[in-house]
Amino acid sequence: MCGDKIHYNIRSFGRINGRGVFKKYQNYINEIIPKESIKVDCKFDINNIFDNDNNKFCIEIGSGYGETVTSLALKNKDTNYIACEVYTKGLINILKIKEQYQLNNLKIFNGDARVLLNNIRDNSIDQLLLLFPDPWPKKKHNKRRIVNEQFIQLINQKIKYNGNFVFASDIDSYISQVQELINTTNVFEYIITDNTTEPHWWVKTKYQNKAIQEGRTCKFFEFRHM
Ligand SMILES: C[S@@+](CC[C@H](N)C(=O)[O-])C[C@H]1O[C@@H](n2cnc3c(N)ncnc32)[C@H](O)[C@@H]1O
Repeated sequence: MCGDKIHYNIRSFGRINGRGVFKKYQNYINEIIPKESIKVDCKFDINNIFDNDNNKFCIEIGSGYGETVTSLALKNKDTNYIACEVYTKGLINILKIKEQYQLNNLKIFNGDARVLLNNIRDNSIDQLLLLFPDPWPKKKHNKRRIVNEQFIQLINQKIKYNGNFVFASDIDSYISQVQELINTTNVFEYIITDNTTEPHWWVKTKYQNKAIQEGRTCKFFEFRHM
């Protein structure tokens, strides 16, 4: 199966539009976001998306307001970035920063990141970022967490040998769940040992700042694909 025919019945995200969004950002919703978002159909080929196909390739799942992906795209011109997000205000913010800094190495995907992942070539991602995914802390909602066995299998297929997977969370039960899955799969190795210190290239996100304010400890993981 190819393209957007792939569908996930269990949503890993919460709201897409906050109150008042339709009125205020109609042109973004009707025109700009659909025009700017990459289309994942049966003809989709990541090689036709960016000006420079020789660049490295990074995907961020759930970019939120785009603090991380825009800052990395500005710093690393040798890397192409796709920011996957479904939250309209986040996508608008990313597009505004992209325009302001003329970030030709950054594209958005307005849709379920898992659909995009399914449609890209195996062994094609140099870096996959999953920073503070929706936590779904209640036990009855745990099944909504984007990381599960199927997800780890998918990223195992798509991340290159030696590529990396970066994960951060402030929710202990989510962290243990991810560690357990990573350990069981045995195809990723830990490349940072001190999980309470941000990697040197880190940019604090809105979600992270809120977690800190509310007294939760954030943990950071970088795994190398073996
Ligand atoms: C808790 S927020 C964190 C956002 C950002 N990474 C940060 O640190 O501020 C998680 C984001 O992931 C997005 N998200 C969740 N599941 C997704 C999916 N399957 N595809 C794309 N985005 C997703 C949500 O819409 C939400 O904006």
